[in-house]
Amino acid sequence: MDKFYITTPIYYVNDIPHIGHTYTTVAADALSRWNRMLGKNVFFLTGTDEHGAKILEKANESNKQPKEFCDEIVEKFKSTWKEMNISYDYFIRTTDVAHESAVKKFLQEIYIKGEIYKSKYDGLYCIQCEKFLTLTEMTPDGLCPEHQVKLVRHQEENYFFRLSDYREKLIEIISNPNHPQHIEIFPVERKNEILGKLKLELPDISISRAGLKWAIPLPFDNTQTTYVWIDALINYISAIGYNSTSNSQLCGTQPKLRLDTSAGRYDFDYWWPADVHLIGKDILWFHTVIWTAMLLSVGLPLPKRIFAHGYFTVNSQKMSKTLGNVILPEELIKSFGVDAARFLLLSAFPFGSDGDININDFKEKYNAHLANNLGNLILRVINMVGKYFDFKIVAPQQVKILDPVKSYGRYIREYIENMKNIAVDQAINSILRIATFGNQYVDREAPWNLARGDVEKLKEVLYNVLVVIKVIAVLSFPFMPQTAEKIFKILDEKETIKDAALKLLPGGKQVEILQLTGKVVSPQPVLFPKIV
Ligand code: MSP
Repeated sequence: MDKFYITTPIYYVNDIPHIGHTYTTVAADALSRWNRMLGKNVFFLTGTDEHGAKILEKANESNKQPKEFCDEIVEKFKSTWKEMNISYDYFIRTTDVAHESAVKKFLQEIYIKGEIYKSKYDGLYCIQCEKFLTLTEMTPDGLCPEHQVKLVRHQEENYFFRLSDYREKLIEIISNPNHPQHIEIFPVERKNEILGKLKLELPDISISRAGLKWAIPLPFDNTQTTYVWIDALINYISAIGYNSTSNSQLCGTQPKLRLDTSAGRYDFDYWWPADVHLIGKDILWFHTVIWTAMLLSVGLPLPKRIFAHGYFTVNSQKMSKTLGNVILPEELIKSFGVDAARFLLLSAFPFGSDGDININDFKEKYNAHLANNLGNLILRVINMVGKYFDFKIVAPQQVKILDPVKSYGRYIREYIENMKNIAVDQAINSILRIATFGNQYVDREAPWNLARGDVEKLKEVLYNVLVVIKVIAVLSFPFMPQTAEKIFKILDEKETIKDAALKLLPGGKQVEILQLTGKVVSPQPVLFPKIV
């Protein structure tokens, strides 16, 4: 069985989860669900980034011990992901004991290789970004352009990682698709951006702080602590047992890992490398350059793919607490329900590009796509099956069933391709095209006219369109899992969504999806009530 290891960034706990975090997490959830449907063994990782000056400052402001402060926000993340129906397999925290020891082991390895040295640092630090900014990166008046805060001067002796040694190798690995360690960076503009930057310069990076207590002590000098970004990146391997010498060490905490001892290898070797690191474009450099060089240094395989989605503004403004325009996922759930909230977020703009989330558009989009197109198709068809056949599913005899290969089959193939390319907004579009196709088919065939004479043809048309609805349910599952299940219930389907999905794959027995396994459809409550 193929495996699929996907990660989101681990989120800073200085903030409660907002729709920025939700956007990445829902996308990763949709991809995880899709890959499970394809029959892959999936490990979906998310979690929280809990060390560093920014979090310490926040904890102090609220008069709490940092760990206590983190615990509270972590609960908020976990409950939000539950509400958003996120099917993660493991939630890592950088304050986990197993993570802390993995960080130490990792850094010790680089240290032994002689790739860490001590030197004086003098730079300007943005505590919000948790990084040093160069003169070209800051505004002319010395502010962080992203957070508009004054940078803090840090002058201290720190440990440095010889990142500069990896410049040529990184350029080769990223640009040459035939390189055995090649990492795919998507979208291609992002890859070019990284290559452009790498060709300019690659300075060594400071990996420790002298005065910061809320961080992991360095294994080779406990007077210094690990720079929060170095600590954070290691989560992707500590979560899957990088530091475990035997599987038994993980049992109990990560049941998913125990499951795969059947692979006959240690869990870590089975899951690593990651198949996809899904991130926002703001943290691309850390993932493609710093993380890659760290892995090269300790001799671990490199992630296969890094996909950076765009950043969005809200009603054309940067989302920020000062502007008071931060949107929380629960607000969307309250207005539209969980599934529609997931759908609206991911379809708001092309996944790899920057975009704007105009909340006023959401109502219109909900009504147009979910209430009037997809929802209405189901409602009208079920009503007709009720009216003409007393809700029974009646297969036609001797008639040609609508051939999906010639009609909406191309949208199914387009959907599969989009999912492969992580074009989630496009995949959603493919589903909507099928719904539009279904509505047009009903309009064209006019069952209400057939009912007056041609009952055989009426059976055929209704059967065909019920199949279209079944296909819509299957393809909607990654994005709207509850809706998909509800549709299968309405259709009285005996087959699982996963089994139906396998038939839709190219090379699979695509035509078999045409069978309906239900007997009687249920009169349904409206799936997506129109919002006025
Ligand atoms: N802790 C680091 C990541 C470490 S990963 C080893 C971090 N955390 S964060 O809480 O700031 O989350 C950043 C991520 O949240 C972004 O990469 C992006 O995935 C998501 N987003 C936050 N705001 C967003 C938007 N306005 N638009 C799109 N994505 C956004 O950075």
